[in-house]
Amino acid sequence: MIWYGGDYNPEQWPEEVWDEDVRLMQQGGITLVSLGIFSWAKLEPREGEFDFGWLDRIIDKLHAGGIRVDLATATASPPPWLTKAYPEVLPVTENGVTLQAGSRQQYCPSSPVLRRLEARLVGKIAERYAGHPALELWHVNNEYGCHVSHCYCPVSADAFRGWLKAKYETVDALNAAWGTAFWSQAYSDFAEIFPPSAAPTFRNPGQLLDFDRFSSDELLDSYRAEVAILRAATPDIPITTNFMGAFKPADYWKWAAEVDIVSDDSYPDPADPDSPAYAAMTRDLMRSLGGGKPWLLMEQAPSAVNWRARNAPKLPGQMRAWSYQALARGADGILFFQWRQSVAGAEKFHSGMIPHAGTDSRVWREVEAFGAELGTMSAFAGTSVVAKVGIVFDWDSWWSIEQQAMPAQLSYVRGIFAWYRALWALGVPVDFVRAESDLGGYSAVIAPNLFVTTAAALSNLDGFARGGGQLVVGYQSGITDENAHIVEGGYLGLLGQTLGIRVEEFAPFAGPDLAAAGGGSVPTGAIAGALTGDSDAHIWSEFLHAETAEVLATFVGGAADGWPAITRNAAGAGAAWYVATQPGEQGMAALLDRVLADAGVAREPQTAGVEMVRRGDRVIRINHGSKAVSVGGASIPPQGVSVSDA
Ligand code: GAL
Repeated sequence: MIWYGGDYNPEQWPEEVWDEDVRLMQQGGITLVSLGIFSWAKLEPREGEFDFGWLDRIIDKLHAGGIRVDLATATASPPPWLTKAYPEVLPVTENGVTLQAGSRQQYCPSSPVLRRLEARLVGKIAERYAGHPALELWHVNNEYGCHVSHCYCPVSADAFRGWLKAKYETVDALNAAWGTAFWSQAYSDFAEIFPPSAAPTFRNPGQLLDFDRFSSDELLDSYRAEVAILRAATPDIPITTNFMGAFKPADYWKWAAEVDIVSDDSYPDPADPDSPAYAAMTRDLMRSLGGGKPWLLMEQAPSAVNWRARNAPKLPGQMRAWSYQALARGADGILFFQWRQSVAGAEKFHSGMIPHAGTDSRVWREVEAFGAELGTMSAFAGTSVVAKVGIVFDWDSWWSIEQQAMPAQLSYVRGIFAWYRALWALGVPVDFVRAESDLGGYSAVIAPNLFVTTAAALSNLDGFARGGGQLVVGYQSGITDENAHIVEGGYLGLLGQTLGIRVEEFAPFAGPDLAAAGGGSVPTGAIAGALTGDSDAHIWSEFLHAETAEVLATFVGGAADGWPAITRNAAGAGAAWYVATQPGEQGMAALLDRVLADAGVAREPQTAGVEMVRRGDRVIRINHGSKAVSVGGASIPPQGVSVSDA
């Protein structure tokens, strides 16, 4: 079954509206609603005083109407009494500013006071609704780290010290790992260590990286505390918390191992022409995080959001088209934020499934029509997407490569996206993988900007190539070890031999595409060679020695004029490619053509502007363009979708 629904916030409405809500949900084909996400103040209006009456009534009504409930633990926004009584739970920014109540997520992730009060609330909710027949899924907290991912308060500082002690055991080991001989930073006691708050200039890279790791772990720990309570009450009810696509503060590989079902919130900008490809990337990431299992699109906007400078509505048909994209890429449920568009509060201009205009509106008509259509799509449920190409996604590298005082300011995700977008345009299915995971199922693996590597990652990637795979490594890979220490002697470590190269010196291109943090739309360099012909290039060049590798393209002009830009080295039964730049469209197409051919990855003819995905035994085609296209004799209108048997 494919779930359909959204966040339902009945506490924002008089109870008279609830019966109509349930009726309209039935009419709209709604099967699942997320309930109670921001209800703490209503469930516990004063410390220790609980009021579940209203929640009982609405859950019963939903149940009577045949609508299942994704019940939240309601911990996403602590009520005002809590922060008044315990101001120490308020989070502190790196500049020492205490964030106040009056918004949401105003808490320090490490706060023991908050964890105690959360545990009591979650315990009550779990106890009360454990046996409720409407309960389908638990929704823990909401978007962990969305607004407050790093806290610099004294409680966090203590927790950070505890985390560091557990990791390093001795302060000497920490000093060695952080390279504190530099700038007189050596510590003689853990008590001297603080989170990396605002400082006169560049902060210690090891400290920053560990603080990113700690901050992700700390949020995960508070998730775990809630899970333990729910698990004890309802061992058989699945548990999720909603992810946010490619989200820097939380290492979702670690998180995904602890959710029963991956769920994602996705808000691509309808005004951005890159949105279809970018959204596809995040959906593939969600499927990959869950090891290929179906995931849930927990939130998307029915039309506009209210948090961009200008909030473009979804075009007619676009909500359906993008929902199909999620389905095609492995989702078993399509949900929205939110059911009824609010009339008060900070999100009153965010679209809802029932907009301010009411049900006589195109948004509601599209919601209703899609609900009816989804009801007929159960054949998708539980089926999988098969990919032979993997792209390595690595949070340590993300955290490190975006630190200050680097060879260049790069955007990790834009670097990944450059590869993803090229493969997306070719219709080649992609999984995201970890450098240390089993790569046996893939024929080609691409590692862009894999800045941080471990010995295990290096030998895994080396083994993949030698075992017959096509390994493609992008610039700024293998630059440091896991302690943010440089890998000397040409960077890359063991991969230097796999790739048959040595990197001598970096030469990032000056110019606008670096300022745009790796956006890369304005070419700033050029490459040429037998493989690529003449192509523009973006962002990067370097002084690169091909030792045993063959040179397939070289830089043209710039500091590294004439030096190798793309190389290939035979490695065991496979090959290892190194790409010292971000090739422009032509260079990328030529390179991928060859890599995919060598990897034996089958390609299918593509129609420009039409996304094609295979899920299970169905082929889904989505026309993201503004003109009708004809594919195989059938015409697909703009924002139209066709589904056929494979
Ligand atoms: C999400 C959040 C929702 C709502 C939505 C608006 O980040 O989970 O509660 O705020 O964004 O786009």
